[in-house]
Order: sequence, then structure tokens, then C-alpha cells
Amino acid sequence: MSFQEITPRELKPALLELDGISRTSVEAHYRLYRGYVAKRNEILGRLAGVDLAAANQVYSELRALKVDLTFAIGGIKNHELYFEHLGGAGGDPDGAFARLVARDFGSAEAWRADLKATGMAGRGWAWTAYDWDEGRLFNYIGDAQNTFPVWNATPLVALDVYEHAYSIDYQTDRGAYIDAFFANLDWGVVNGWIEAYRIPTA
Ligand SMILES: [Fe+2]
Repeated sequence: MSFQEITPRELKPALLELDGISRTSVEAHYRLYRGYVAKRNEILGRLAGVDLAAANQVYSELRALKVDLTFAIGGIKNHELYFEHLGGAGGDPDGAFARLVARDFGSAEAWRADLKATGMAGRGWAWTAYDWDEGRLFNYIGDAQNTFPVWNATPLVALDVYEHAYSIDYQTDRGAYIDAFFANLDWGVVNGWIEAYRIPTA
């Protein structure tokens, strides 16, 4: 099996000037993100030489590599979403995302309250995603980079609630960080994803 090595995306300058989320915090995410990219490349390289005949569910090199690959890839995808959709003016959603939120949650306030609560209840992430089978949005909970996404759903908002996301700026006050997260979302980016993925909004 061959694979392409990937390189970390650059941080856009606006991320270093967020409102209520410090440059130090963003740089902490970025250091971790670069680590996920490096480990993704390393694991895929190791998998190329793994002994398939030794595969075993209790312990095997194949099992260890494939389980931890999901953590590395999750860390990459989650952070690329996080970095890309921050740097905006926040406020209530507009455009296509506003229409989906109004239809599936009733109001922007109800969506925000549900995502914030999901973030308070999670140990790593909370995501708003569009489930293609259900045809609607849902706020999913995550305890780690690789738990608990579901198949055939497209994430549109990715809220990092790992301690490194808030402890530098807010100590243990995760709720205050989540409020700052909402205040920096860029709805143009989220609506661009809805258009790119052709998510139906009617
Ligand atoms: Fe992070």
C-alpha cells in the first residue's frame, strides 16, 4: 500500500488575533496539529511494512497502528476545521447555515445552547454536523480526536474543548472559552462548506 506524506497547513494570520482566544492558545493547538500530521505520516509508513499474518484483536502491530492512526487523522481533520472557521465576527449564523439551524434547532439561540452544553459534556470535542441519511443537523459529542463521529455526516462546526483550548486563557472556565469560540466564528467559511458539499438547505 502506498500513500502520500502530507504537510501541515499554514496558520492564517487572523487566527493570531482572535477576540478572547489568545495567540498562545492558538499556537498550542498548532503545535499539537503538527504532531498529528507527523504521526499520521509515520504510522502510514509503518503500516506499509506490517505483518498482515500477525493481525490479532488482543494485540498486534496492525491493530495498534490502525487504532492510533484514527487518533492522528482525527486530530488533523478536527484542527483543520477549527482553524479554518475561526477568525470571523461571530454573532448569529447567516446564510445557508442560518436556514439549517432555524429548521433543525428552531433558533440560533437553541442551536448555540445545545452545542455549548455538548461541549461542556464532552472531553475533547463537540461538532455540528449534517447527517446525510437523516437529512438534518445534529450536535455530536467527542471525548477524543477519534470518538464518536458517525458515518455519512459532514462536520460544519468543530468546537475543541480539550484543556489546551481554554486553560491558558480561562483556567477551568470552559464555558467562558466556548462563548469566545462562538464570538470568533466565520459564517462565510461555514456557508462555503455547505455550498462546496452541496448540502441541501431547503
Ligand atoms: Fe486543539
